Amino acid sequence: MDKIRIVGGTPLRGVINIGGAKNSALALMSACLLTDDILLLSNLSYLVDIVTMTSLLKHHGVSISLSNNNTSLTSHTLELNANKITNTTAPYDLVRKMRASILVLGPLLARCNQVKVSLPGGCAIGTRPVNLHLKALETMGAKIDVQGGYIIASVPSGRLIGSEIIFPHITVGGTENILMAASLADGKTIITNAAREPEVCDLANCLVAMGAKIVGIGTSTLHIEGVDRLYGAQYSIIPDRIETGTYAIAAAITRGNIELIGARRDTIQSVEKVLIESGVEISETPLGIRVNAYDRRIVGVDIMTEPYPGFPTDMQAQLMALMTTAEGASMITETLFENRFMHVPELLRMGAKINVHGSSAIIRGVQKLSGAPVMATDLRASGSLVLAGLIADGETIINRIYHLDRGYERVEEKLAACGANINRIKDSS
Ligand code: EPZ
Repeated sequence: MDKIRIVGGTPLRGVINIGGAKNSALALMSACLLTDDILLLSNLSYLVDIVTMTSLLKHHGVSISLSNNNTSLTSHTLELNANKITNTTAPYDLVRKMRASILVLGPLLARCNQVKVSLPGGCAIGTRPVNLHLKALETMGAKIDVQGGYIIASVPSGRLIGSEIIFPHITVGGTENILMAASLADGKTIITNAAREPEVCDLANCLVAMGAKIVGIGTSTLHIEGVDRLYGAQYSIIPDRIETGTYAIAAAITRGNIELIGARRDTIQSVEKVLIESGVEISETPLGIRVNAYDRRIVGVDIMTEPYPGFPTDMQAQLMALMTTAEGASMITETLFENRFMHVPELLRMGAKINVHGSSAIIRGVQKLSGAPVMATDLRASGSLVLAGLIADGETIINRIYHLDRGYERVEEKLAACGANINRIKDSS
């Protein structure tokens, strides 16, 4: 397994290109199942999760081709054609690699009236149930059984029925599955308490480009008028707000100054507010945003993760890394997932002072972290360890960085280009 080696201490300076959003791309890719025309997605980041979703869609019979965008190596274009769906089963060995595979459930049910998807199961950060997805689809007329670890769904009437869906609590994937299913349902669906994440809006906007009728995009109430068919479209994926936030913290934690090219400031307002409160200077540039922490005091801030537009849970581990060497204390409360503090023991190995009490962590800033061998446990925790390694004294070796490669493209290249002493140690075995 590859590792990453970092020798910390260099304030980062330079520019970093922000790629297309992973969590948008995964939903947009599954939307190709809704039409027999070609869907063309541009500004795609080349990530392990994208490769996994590509394998799953090919298993369903989708023909997919990937091309590098000629103008820059940071973005790619994906052409997806689901005119022949040959298999409506999403098998365990594919689904277990990536929970977002559940996003084929809604579109396959709407297009083929039958689907068998392995229950995604939990992951390192939590049990991650999909009960809200299933209940909403049953409301729309689906017959759903769960047997042998599989969701077996069908539509006895031959077409899903537009319905009133009220989510008891916000679910990104649940909103996305119902958005896609409702686009081809008979009649009108209203989703109340819908997720408002930019990635959900990106999916809705792409569906509209494909001919769907959706009103209320960006609000917590979505109105979808089902249509008989959807068409192909060309769609550019929004920049990844979590990649943006992660590299913003790379600038902050090293007291550097980085321009994030392609970043969309309007999608990171809650992160920006917290970073400014901690002492970082953030400004708009013609190409994106500038994050400057050169010679600035970084102080502890308190945050609680919340659904969008609140502080994103996917930025919690990264902010904690910044707080380990901030002046004073900070408190981070994780409200979305039950086990999303696995970066804490690894940060403690590097000399951080962190106490976890239930869903809250108290961090007391220390002068310095010390480099150490550490273990990545999940995608965003691995981002947190890279950030800590950038300022730790000495050498940090991060093991199991396959977690990192799921959601960040060419991290070591992007950081090295800004002066970081970082390289990948390829696994020779
Ligand atoms: C999406 O996961 C993201 N993944 C996650 O990003 C992100 O952390 C999460 O939204 C929250 O923003 C993708 O978009 C591929 P949820 P999702 O359904 O859709 C509970 C990353 O690092 N819940 O909004 O699975 C659930 O257990 C990943 O990029 C139910 O109880 O998240 C969780 O506590 C990690 N029943 C909460 O809701 C359900 O049926 C939020 O889950 C569905 C969810």
